[in-house]
Amino acid sequence: MIKDEFYTLSNGVKIPKIAFGTWQVKPGEEAYNSVAMALKNGYRHIDTALAYENEESVGQAIKDSKIKREELFITTKLPSHIKGYKDTVDAFNLSLKNLDCGYLDLYLIHAPWPWSNVGQDCVEGNIESWRAMIDLYNQGLIKAIGVSNFRESDIKPLIDATGFTPHVDQIRFFIGNTQEQLYNYCVKNNILIEAYSPLATGNILKNEIIQKIADKHNVTPAKVALRYCLERKTLPLPKSTHEERIIANLELDFRLDDEDMKELALVHDSNLDRPYRS
Ligand SMILES: NC(=O)c1ccc[n+]([C@@H]2O[C@H](COP(=O)([O-])OP(=O)(O)OC[C@H]3O[C@@H](n4cnc5c(N)ncnc54)[C@H](OP(=O)(O)O)[C@@H]3O)[C@@H](O)[C@H]2O)c1
Repeated sequence: MIKDEFYTLSNGVKIPKIAFGTWQVKPGEEAYNSVAMALKNGYRHIDTALAYENEESVGQAIKDSKIKREELFITTKLPSHIKGYKDTVDAFNLSLKNLDCGYLDLYLIHAPWPWSNVGQDCVEGNIESWRAMIDLYNQGLIKAIGVSNFRESDIKPLIDATGFTPHVDQIRFFIGNTQEQLYNYCVKNNILIEAYSPLATGNILKNEIIQKIADKHNVTPAKVALRYCLERKTLPLPKSTHEERIIANLELDFRLDDEDMKELALVHDSNLDRPYRS
């Protein structure tokens, strides 16, 4: 079952093949209950961010689950507006305190630019943040480090400056939005792609081609969307606050065949390309 399967990062760290996403999950009861339900139903990989403002509730649900720390994989992210060595260490320490989980499994730079100024040139700041993350990684406080929303042109300066290639790039990836050039760059450089918004934040579920393939396999469009990410060897991070969906999103023990994948490669629905902000 998918809940028991792992990818291996370029540094040898095992990472569960599916994660539970928590963007737009309100701090307090909603985040606590959603994460508790996810853990109860078999998720072991939780994705949050300081910017989601729910780390404390996520951390509390994790602690209360009594699942052994080494069986869990916890990811959080450096806020997009924080660039620079010291501010990165401070933000990391705050996240660790919020989550209260001893160490992080994965820490990501949330975006190459602040969400308030998408496209801003932050190369120098990103390099300084990256140096801080490498040091935290070398101290054993983080098991793997990476980036999010980074394009090839954002990743290369990090590698050029430090010689350290990110283990992960978490990017917007779903049927009809697969960023093929970046995808190929990551595959070539052994950077695992985490597929965020694998259901296009819910917008993917009414597409005719996806529905047809779902009918063929007697599953839902959501399952086709998640399975698609896995067939592409990316790591989907579905989010839900409903237990039946949290459970369903883990039940992915069917395969899409070559014909399905060819058809899905042709999906283009302008509804899928809605603007986002995380
Ligand atoms: N790094 C970044 O910049 C970034 C950006 C965006 C997202 N992310 C990560 O990726 C995660 C997932 O992305 P996302 O939150 O955009 O959304 P998503 O997982 O693509 O879709 C979530 C939406 O689909 C609904 N849904 C979930 N499972 C369903 C099912 N089986 N059937 C029907 N509807 C279903 C959810 O509704 P209910 O909750 O009401 O069930 C919610 O409205 C985030 O939570 C976050 O961890 C990262």
